[in-house]
Amino acid sequence: MVTVYYEWASLLLRWTHIISGIAWIGSSFYFMHLDAAIKGVPEIPAGKGGEAWEVHGGGFYQVRKYLVAPERLPKELIWHKWQAYSTWLSGFALLVWIYYIGADLFLVDPGVRALAPWQAAAIGIVSLVVGWEVYDRLVKSPLAKNEVALAAVGFAYVTAMAWFYQQVFSGRGALIHSGALMGTMMVGNVAMNIMPNQRKVIADLVAGREPNPEYGKQAKTRSRHNNYLTLPVLFLMLSSHFPLTYQTRFAWAIVALVLVAGALIRHFYNERHAGRGDPWWTWAVAALCMWLAIWISASSAPGGREALGLSPLSRTDLPASAPKAPVQVASIVMGRCGMCHARTPSFPGIGEAPKGIRLDTPRFVERNRYEIGLWAVATRAMPPANVSGVTDDERATLARWVAKR
Ligand code: HEC
Repeated sequence: MVTVYYEWASLLLRWTHIISGIAWIGSSFYFMHLDAAIKGVPEIPAGKGGEAWEVHGGGFYQVRKYLVAPERLPKELIWHKWQAYSTWLSGFALLVWIYYIGADLFLVDPGVRALAPWQAAAIGIVSLVVGWEVYDRLVKSPLAKNEVALAAVGFAYVTAMAWFYQQVFSGRGALIHSGALMGTMMVGNVAMNIMPNQRKVIADLVAGREPNPEYGKQAKTRSRHNNYLTLPVLFLMLSSHFPLTYQTRFAWAIVALVLVAGALIRHFYNERHAGRGDPWWTWAVAALCMWLAIWISASSAPGGREALGLSPLSRTDLPASAPKAPVQVASIVMGRCGMCHARTPSFPGIGEAPKGIRLDTPRFVERNRYEIGLWAVATRAMPPANVSGVTDDERATLARWVAKR
């Protein structure tokens, strides 16, 4: 029964995380679009806000923006903060659930650094707190007066953190922490800057003082940073399912390229929605970045490119008479993978064949040739942290079998 609870808890946590992330990022996109579309109207002088009309779901909306605050504070004000907080809380819970509780499989790679699980978890948590602090100080420093300089330093900083994570964690753990750091910066912006500034403005209004427009400006800067980070963060959250992204010495470079590509695509839409034209070059540069990322992943995969030639469509069916993998191959795979990838796994803590992949009979081994080529030969992402000690010779045998068409 433990397996059932564990599996369902994993699913429910992810479900919560994805739903709150959609709500948060959706409203971030919405408000950036709205902001860009707002035009001055007679009642709201230029530079103090404006108005936009929208049509949605059968109705027309007239939305007004007051850069500082309206003259009178409305009775009911809708705040947007719990989307952000719930995304972070559910994300952190997932980080603990998968990477800190399962540190020996997913976070620690003895080939990188032989950390005890608690040490790895402590490094992860401290890095998120300190990582936020450094970013926050950067944005408050005089450097921030120059937006381009701040963006360049911010980019170098996140890339450096990705590199640092790669020196201590498994590739997968490094990418998820790079994403978690960016997500923490985004939520920190909401919790430590945007919300407090809005509260100050409201307190001033209630007390009859004129609020300082600086509060609103700061909040807008933070909100713009969040907007540029959304796409890279989403990529990094998905990366753990794709070993080509993280099983390379240059995973940190892939983070850097994805940061540039994601931010450029956001930039395209921000410019377009503001009516400043369509900077199509952003797509070209983003595509170039992604092409580079793909090239890096293939050319630095630890097991070489040879095993990457198979098509997933080459999978065989599994009737009783389906082909079997050669004895030598089957015995390696069944011996090194079968303790987890079996109908009833014997590895402690694994309740059912992970992701439904069974590798406990020669026919299942043959059927999963593509998966074995990708996960165990080219990227060496399996077994996790090489717990069952697959040797280089064994990987070479598997590579020859995978490469044979
Ligand atoms: C210690 C147990 C263990 C061993 C040994 C192991 N795996 Fe896995 N495998 C897992 C777990 C756990 C997952 C699910 C990973 C996740 O949740 O992202 C997995 C996932 C996979 C996947 C599916 C990945 C996906 O998301 O589509 C493949 C393919 C795979 N393993 C192949 C292998 C091969 C080949 C071997 C042997 C060389 C192997 N595994 C050895 C635990 C193991």
